[in-house]
Amino acid sequence: MTPAFVIAVDGPAASGKGTVATRLGRELGLPVLDTGLLYRAVGVLTQGAGEDPDDPAAAAAIAILLTAERLEDPALRTRAAGELASRVAIHPGVRAALLDFQRAFAHQPGGAVLDGRDIGTVICPEAPAKLYVTATPEVRAGRRWKQLTGQGEVVSFDDVLADIHRRDARDGGRDNAPLRRADDAALLDTTEMSIELAADAARRIVEAARARWEKSRSG
Ligand code: CDP
Repeated sequence: MTPAFVIAVDGPAASGKGTVATRLGRELGLPVLDTGLLYRAVGVLTQGAGEDPDDPAAAAAIAILLTAERLEDPALRTRAAGELASRVAIHPGVRAALLDFQRAFAHQPGGAVLDGRDIGTVICPEAPAKLYVTATPEVRAGRRWKQLTGQGEVVSFDDVLADIHRRDARDGGRDNAPLRRADDAALLDTTEMSIELAADAARRIVEAARARWEKSRSG
């Protein structure tokens, strides 16, 4: 089997990783998986089924039955869905249930781009290209506030900043697959960058990684 060129894009909430991943996919002709949607779907469906998202068995039962069509729902993009996602993402049973789907996506012929929290550390530790995209909490909150209000949500900047701090603490503090930069991931701090600049920088990082990867395979 030809090894797949997998690009792992990790980082905290609203760091720009989703936009970077989407642009890389478009420019390189690779399929993109926003793995946050998996956790968002599990959170929303668990609550929708009248179950408690903090109940590990209830959330894992939903995760096992999750299908790709569920990821299309616009309701997954809301602020509430992000909060539910980070609550169910703590449960090891939920993470285990979503593992095969993510790995199969990553290893499709030609390769893929995946963005999330643990792609470079747990899902695809062997990925030849890894980026860790970050920015200050204030800048991330500003971006998320703009996105949410653009979707019609009514929310203050301070509340969004509090969400970001809470999610950073939960995602970074959990025992199972906590958010952290893989040792071999390139750091991309987008605090002072427009999305254009961030996407350009990401492309250069990936091009260099691809050249190293091709050299290692031919040599
Ligand atoms: O867009 P944003 O970065 O706010 O969130 P997301 O990527 O959609 O992820 C929502 C939540 O799902 C995160 O706060 C994590 O708790 C969880 N998640 C995870 O644990 N592992 C992933 N690979 C992706 C998301």
